[in-house]
Parts: sequence; C-alpha cells; structure tokens
Amino acid sequence: MMEPKIIQLPKIIDKRGNLSFFENPKQLPFEIARTYWIYDVPGGETRGSHAFKEQQEFIVALSGSFDVVLHDGEKEERFSLNRSNYGLYVPKMYWRRLENFSTNSLALIVSDRGYDANDYIRDFKEFKNLRNGSKIGF
Ligand code: TYD
Repeated sequence: MMEPKIIQLPKIIDKRGNLSFFENPKQLPFEIARTYWIYDVPGGETRGSHAFKEQQEFIVALSGSFDVVLHDGEKEERFSLNRSNYGLYVPKMYWRRLENFSTNSLALIVSDRGYDANDYIRDFKEFKNLRNGSKIGF
C-alpha cells in the first residue's frame, strides 16, 4: 500500500513573481479527475473527518497554512502545510482531517476520482475495522 508523503514541487523563482506546478506523472502519482478547494474556513473549524475507500488526493496550501492529520488505523501523523510549493499525497484508506486553518488560507485538493458519496467512510470504527481486517493474510 502507498504511504502518505510530502512532495516538493518545482519553484520557478522570478522577480516578477514565483511559479509552481505539478503534473502527472512527474510530481503526482495519479491522473487528476477532479479539483476542489476549501476556503473561508472560520477559526477553529475542522474539515474532513472521514476516509476514502478508493480515492487518492494531493493537497496544497496555496495560501496560508493548515494541518492535515492522517490516521492509518493504528497511529496518527500530522503534516503542517504552509508553503505553496509543497503538497501532501494522501493514499486511499487514510482517515483524514484538516484543521488549524489560518485566516484566509486556501486548500487546493486534486483527486484521481470524480465525486462519489459512496467512496466515503464516515464512521471511524468502520474505518478501523476495514483497515485492520485488510491486514489479515499479509
Ligand atoms: P466533504 O467532502 O464532506 O467536505 P470535507 O471533507 O472537506 O469536510 O464535502 C462537503 C459537501 O460538498 C458534501 O455535501 C459533498 C459536497 N462535495 C461535492 O459535491 N463535490 C466534491 O467534489 C466535494 C469534495 C464535496
């Protein structure tokens, strides 16, 4: 199974302003099917708190900062995103939440799938069971 990882993106430094990008397959390990963004998050709010059965994502703090907290069924890991030339690759089957949004932060998220409500796991116990059950035999 793929592991979460911070991916450093190219940064073309220019006195007219910097430019960064990502493309498949050079920086991104999947083809993009959907793009969405989260913004105007009130102080103290949390987004996410679910897992995806199949969907993979790549998350970039285009502006400001926030934390992505990933749980693999056993332990939690916190990734602080605060620069627009780094992103976090989130494999399928990680419980994830986004929190500690700074004022005016902008989270860009690209995914390898179209929106599918059936791909969500919204119950943490069910997630843990699926995760730990899937280890049997390996
Ligand atoms: P949700 O994924 O639950 O938000 P978050 O994980 O950031 O807290 O989505 C919130 C609502 O938006 C939900 O009703 C589904 C809808 N939605 C779409 O219609 N299309 C999308 O691509 C996404 C991400 C959400």
